[in-house]
Amino acid sequence: MISGAGGEIGHGLIQRLAEEGTYSILALDLRPMDPELAALCAHTVVGTILDTNLLERIASEYQIAGIFHLAAMLSTRGEFIPETAHEINVQGTLNLLKFAVGEARNSGSNVKFIFPSSIAVYGLPDVATKATADTVAEGDFLVPTTMYGINKLSCEHLGRYYTHHYRQLAADRDGFHVDFRSLRFPGLISAFTVPSGGTSDYAPEMLHAAAKGEEYACFARPDTRIPFMAMPDAIDALLGLFNAPFENLSTTVYNVGSFSPSAEEIKAKTLAAFPDARITYENDRQRQGILDTWPADVDDSRARADWGWNPSYDFARAFDEYLIPNIRQRYDGA
Ligand code: SER
Repeated sequence: MISGAGGEIGHGLIQRLAEEGTYSILALDLRPMDPELAALCAHTVVGTILDTNLLERIASEYQIAGIFHLAAMLSTRGEFIPETAHEINVQGTLNLLKFAVGEARNSGSNVKFIFPSSIAVYGLPDVATKATADTVAEGDFLVPTTMYGINKLSCEHLGRYYTHHYRQLAADRDGFHVDFRSLRFPGLISAFTVPSGGTSDYAPEMLHAAAKGEEYACFARPDTRIPFMAMPDAIDALLGLFNAPFENLSTTVYNVGSFSPSAEEIKAKTLAAFPDARITYENDRQRQGILDTWPADVDDSRARADWGWNPSYDFARAFDEYLIPNIRQRYDGA
């Protein structure tokens, strides 16, 4: 089962899972799925993860062996309606965790629960600290300033609780449980979709605007540096963690990184491919404030050691071999 299946990550994940053909996919999304994507799924359900009646109905009709819980409200949008963000991001996750407990009990086996967390869980106190912090490890600077980051951090803890401590005092504890695994993703860049409502959106927005011949005013300062990842690597990470043997995992939360360019470096790479692109800077102080609390780079050595994380795309390859050719084809063909 994939929640938020029609979103950016869902697109990539459904295509990959369908190619592999190991699982029947149940896609859940607020909106009807793109017909092309829906065709790759065994079942599609339109609805919200806040609708517990709907979740009960799904539980009664299907047997769910694993959940990729991708539905979320991102960091920029969440700052306009923080209580709604909390409801979707935390209550929605809690509903699915409870749903997963029921599935584990009914099927008599553990239910894997894959959760994309984010670099937004970090909150570096100021730019000077960010500049000297080097790569940030999972336990560092966990003082997020956005509702989204706070929500992701809460959900990481909830997942750890459901995996290791759920109903720890109850006499009738179940033998089977939720096997929660989360990844802290950097900003993701896809050649085929553009994100909405995030604070790392300047990179994909800049690139897609350039390919479409549209002007783009970047809201981040030229020297802004946060980690990014090409979508195929993000899908590899999700599946790598999903397929890892439980006994190899030393934690329920893993950083994953690939490359960490400044906004100016992204602009230069974009201009190299699209020399006529019109890219300017129009700093948004508030959104910059959020970016300044996110780390310049992450330490992902735990993911590398425990389940063999190793991204295929560095900055140059991501642009030269994945993003630019696919984006060109997409908009040239339009
Ligand atoms: N891409 C997300 C955002 O910008 C971070 O996880 O909100």
